[in-house]
Amino acid sequence: MKNLKKAGKSLQHKDYKTVENAILEQKAPAHIPVMTEEVLDNLITREDGLYVDATLGLGGHTKEILDYTNYQSRIIGLDVDEEAITIASNNLSKYKSNVVFRNSNFSEIDRVLLDLEIEEVDGIVADLGMSSFQLDSSQRGFSFIRDERLDMRMDARLRFTAFDLVNEMSVDEISKVLKVYGEERWSRRIAKRIVQTREDKPISTSAELANLVYEAIPKKFHPARIHPATKTFQAFRIAVNHELDNIEEFIGKAIPLLKTGGRLVIISFHSLEDRIVKNLFQNLYSPCICPPDLPMCGCGKKSEINIITRSPLIPSEEEVMNNPRSRSAKMRVGEKL
Ligand SMILES: C[S@@+](CC[C@H](N)C(=O)[O-])C[C@H]1O[C@@H](n2cnc3c(N)ncnc32)[C@H](O)[C@@H]1O
Repeated sequence: MKNLKKAGKSLQHKDYKTVENAILEQKAPAHIPVMTEEVLDNLITREDGLYVDATLGLGGHTKEILDYTNYQSRIIGLDVDEEAITIASNNLSKYKSNVVFRNSNFSEIDRVLLDLEIEEVDGIVADLGMSSFQLDSSQRGFSFIRDERLDMRMDARLRFTAFDLVNEMSVDEISKVLKVYGEERWSRRIAKRIVQTREDKPISTSAELANLVYEAIPKKFHPARIHPATKTFQAFRIAVNHELDNIEEFIGKAIPLLKTGGRLVIISFHSLEDRIVKNLFQNLYSPCICPPDLPMCGCGKKSEINIITRSPLIPSEEEVMNNPRSRSAKMRVGEKL
């Protein structure tokens, strides 16, 4: 612990102009759910409906749904993070008879509903990414602001941690992760620096990783508003938690579980997530996948959803001021046909 504290002191953003911005980037005031009004407007089709909160987190959206529906609705709340489930069930203790908690991945939503003998629900909401609790207090190395062991697993049942990836992957593999999941321009340089550094001793903490990235990227190319390690941390987190694969699997499974007219509401926080949601919605909407030069449709495909949001909804200026974490949120809504 002493060592971690010591290493924390040497975090290299002393001359990083906008430390506050970096903190805001990653940190949200506890318990403020994002785009609540838009979630309620788009998700709730009936007051006594059955809904899935696929990313329960601290229970913020679930509580809002229950308040809005005068406690007539019922909610199945999923989270891969066991600690989140514990906190949420505490936060929602007053509403226990309305909520079923499941420590499950939303990519297994079909299995969860099958276990509960539920065939269809009125709406499903997913607020992707991490909760303020995970960033600020989980001590799993999600943030470059703190110095913690490099873990980054949202789900403690996963086999590989960020420590394993950072210390075991080759230069090529690390470079690919940083490029694909972080869209990091300096991916190869950072990957080489990681492999070189770990020749002496394993890279074990978030500060060690953040400092090394800080040094690997030439100073004149350090981004102005975010910490230079932001993209690297995002990339390892996505890789450790298989985040993009999970979203894809989830959307494919969620639509058949909706009643006709039921809504799937997804809030994403970076372009990789939003692109997947946009493309999958487009695919589910598209009535035909025949090559454009075929004179007649022969694929037999049907539209499965209506896209309610042709462009994604974004938070109001007022919300962004009150809750900076909402800044990069994008909401897309599909309606089951
Ligand atoms: C942004 S937070 C949700 C906050 C919540 N809407 C609230 O208002 O309190 C995202 C949550 O989704 C969870 N999560 C991320 N990926 C998941 C997945 N594949 N399946 C289930 N939960 C997931 C995280 O553990 C985290 O608790």
